[in-house]
Amino acid sequence: MSEAAERAGGRPKVALITGASAGIGAAFATLLASQGWSVILTARREIQLEFVASECRRLGAPKVWKIPLDLSLPKAPEALALALIAERAIPDALINNAGYSRTDGFLSSAPEAHDAMLRLMLQAPVTLSRLLAPAMVERGYGRIVNVASLAGFLPATGGDTLYGPIKSFLIRASRGLNLELQGTGVHVSALCPGYTLTEFHDANGSRDQVSRAYPDWMWMTAEAVVAAGWRGVEANRLVVVPGLLNKTVAAVSAVLPEPLAMAMVKSQARRLKRL
Ligand SMILES: NC(=O)c1ccc[n+]([C@@H]2O[C@H](COP(=O)([O-])OP(=O)(O)OC[C@H]3O[C@@H](n4cnc5c(N)ncnc54)[C@H](OP(=O)(O)O)[C@@H]3O)[C@@H](O)[C@H]2O)c1
Repeated sequence: MSEAAERAGGRPKVALITGASAGIGAAFATLLASQGWSVILTARREIQLEFVASECRRLGAPKVWKIPLDLSLPKAPEALALALIAERAIPDALINNAGYSRTDGFLSSAPEAHDAMLRLMLQAPVTLSRLLAPAMVERGYGRIVNVASLAGFLPATGGDTLYGPIKSFLIRASRGLNLELQGTGVHVSALCPGYTLTEFHDANGSRDQVSRAYPDWMWMTAEAVVAAGWRGVEANRLVVVPGLLNKTVAAVSAVLPEPLAMAMVKSQARRLKRL
C-alpha cells in the first residue's frame, strides 16, 4: 500500500494543486503522484495539464483529475472548492501555487490586470483554504502549502510593485493559519523559493535579462524546491526557504535596516535595466 493510502486508512490521499500545468506546481503534482497520492490539477492550459496528468498516471497516482480554469476570474476559487465538496473529492492537501509577476510597471498596467493578479494570488489561496480546511480539520489530517517567495521578505521592486507585498501577505497569513490549526493535524507552511528554473521568467518576459544577471549556481530546480517544501510542511514548519543561498538572503533581510534594503533593491533594479 502506498505511503499516502496507508496514512488515509486505505483511501488514497488527494491533493489539489493550483498552477499545476508547469514549474513548481507540476513538480508538486509528480512528487505526490510518485508517493501514491491522487491529484487534482488545475491551471488554464489544457494541453500542458494533460502532459502533467499523464506523467502523474505513469508515476502511479490512483486518480488524476484535470480542471482547466482561469483562477483569476471572480468567484472561480469559490466555484472550484464548492464543486470539489459537492463531488466529495475533498483534498487532504492544498497547494496554493498559481502565480506570476509583472514587470511592466504599476501605472502602465491596466487596473483590471492588478485586480486579476490580486484575485489569483491573494483571494484564491484565502478562499480555497477557508472552504477546504474545515474538512481537513474534521479528518484530523491536512497539508496546506502556500507558495510565496523570497521576494516576500524584501522591499517591493519598482515595476513589479504588487508581487512582493502579495508574497509577504501569504507568508504572514500562513503563519496565522498555522497557529490557528495547531493540534488539529493540519499543517500549514509558506514556501519561499528564490530563483527557480520554471516558465515564470518566460511568462513575464524577463528570461534573457535574468539569465544574464544571475549565474547558474543562483538557480534551483523546481524539483529541489518542492522536495524542500514538502519536507517542510510534513514537519509543520511555518516558513520554508529552500537552498543555502536563499536561506542566507532571508536571514540577512530579517536584520537589514529598511533604507539599506531599499538601496540594495534599487541598485539591483538599475543593474537589471542595464542588461
Ligand atoms: N520561478 C521562480 O523563480 C519563483 C520564485 C519564487 C516564487 N515563485 C512562485 O512559484 C509559483 C509558481 O510559479 P512557477 O515558478 O512554477 O511559474 P510557472 O512555471 O510560470 O507556473 C505558473 C503556474 O501558474 C498558472 N497560472 C498562471 N496564471 C493563472 C491563472 N490566471 N489561473 C490559473 N492558473 C494560472 C500557470 O498555468 P497556466 O498558464 O496554464 O494557467 C502555471 O501552471 C508562483 O506563485 C510564483 O510566484 C516562483
